[in-house]
Amino acid sequence: AGQSQDDLKRIAALRAVELVRSGMVLGLGTGSTAAHALDRICDLLRGGDLRDIVGIPTSEWAAARAAAANIPLTDLAAHPVVDLSIDGADKVDPALNLVKGRGGSLLREKMVEGASRRFVVIVDDSKLVSRLGGSGLAIPVEVIPFGWALTLRRLQNLFDGTPGFNLKLCTASINTKASAFTEKESEIEPFVTDNKNYIVDLFFEDGIHGDLQAISDDLLRIIGVVEHGMFLGLATSVIVARKDGVVLMDK
Ligand code: A5P
Repeated sequence: AGQSQDDLKRIAALRAVELVRSGMVLGLGTGSTAAHALDRICDLLRGGDLRDIVGIPTSEWAAARAAAANIPLTDLAAHPVVDLSIDGADKVDPALNLVKGRGGSLLREKMVEGASRRFVVIVDDSKLVSRLGGSGLAIPVEVIPFGWALTLRRLQNLFDGTPGFNLKLCTASINTKASAFTEKESEIEPFVTDNKNYIVDLFFEDGIHGDLQAISDDLLRIIGVVEHGMFLGLATSVIVARKDGVVLMDK
């Protein structure tokens, strides 16, 4: 029968929550798919089927949502090793590399998920791509506000000569989206992350080509760049919900 995209997100989330055991330290993901996992964990706790869970939220949104669901929260200082993280993704490639952070939470997500023994990604099949960064879907980069226009110029320089490359600062209001080369810093109202940083979106018309790890290194070497939304080699498995059933992608 007609399953909506949201039904598929829930199916993937329920499958992932089957991996949760009492006593675990859980990384709590951000977004509409992760929301289904949080709801399910909440139900299991309430019914007594799960006990002694502690969660590390990957965003202020996840923290609020988990608190409302009575999931006890902790942090990476108290629990530097996370047993299991469950989170959505914006895109997944065949090597289980991800683009995340379209909701602006990439930095905390990468910290928590990078500290996890297992990181299980939950998606509906619309998120699967052969190559990251293509078809108008940006790769977000978190930058510190200080000198952001210079950082943006350095990002531009890094991809100079890449056909179909484009970038822009994410603004609070979509209608005022900035072309940062033509507007003054003071005239733009940027989108602000949980860490009080800005997001620059990188667009690659035909997807991002080349050695992703090398590109990641180049991005992170730019002073002013805090993190980017390519999650390379972090996912241990991806649960994909399709209309004809659930598929598991494993390393
Ligand atoms: C949040 O910043 C993102 O990384 C999310 O994990 C991602 O956007 C997936 O969200 P949905 O499940 O809502 O598609």
